[in-house]
Amino acid sequence: MKRSKPRGPDARALIAAARKARLSAIADYSNFKVGAAIETEDGTIVTGCNIENSTYGLGLCAERVAMFKALSDGHRKFRRIAVAIDTKTPTPPCGACRQILWEFAGDIEVILATLKRERSHHQLKDLIPFSFDKSHL
Ligand code: THU
Repeated sequence: MKRSKPRGPDARALIAAARKARLSAIADYSNFKVGAAIETEDGTIVTGCNIENSTYGLGLCAERVAMFKALSDGHRKFRRIAVAIDTKTPTPPCGACRQILWEFAGDIEVILATLKRERSHHQLKDLIPFSFDKSHL
């Protein structure tokens, strides 16, 4: 996966918020807890966690929960998102989340973190190349 150099202010607070949000995850079926934190243009941090349920298919990923919370709070411009998972190496976001992030945030920085130190930084355009969006309608 293509990686970029970290951009902008220190990401520690954003990663800490993603790790904290992960503690609220409802992952009774997969036991795979994920936390996400989106930084808006004005510096606000909006968090999300994955939420699973007994129908399985209606679960939502942490990234989309964070993005929908931010949108419903009125935020429209975003700088970056951090995702935190308790794995050995950083875990990339699923395709559905990439699509939603691309739609509402464009080419933001995506910071992938574990619970320890490991991080990788990516640009969303590298994670969802040749993407469909409103410019095609
Ligand atoms: N999940 C996320 O929340 N974000 C990701 O980037 C990958 C997957 C969730 C969905 C599901 O609740 C669990 O992790 C296992 O796939």
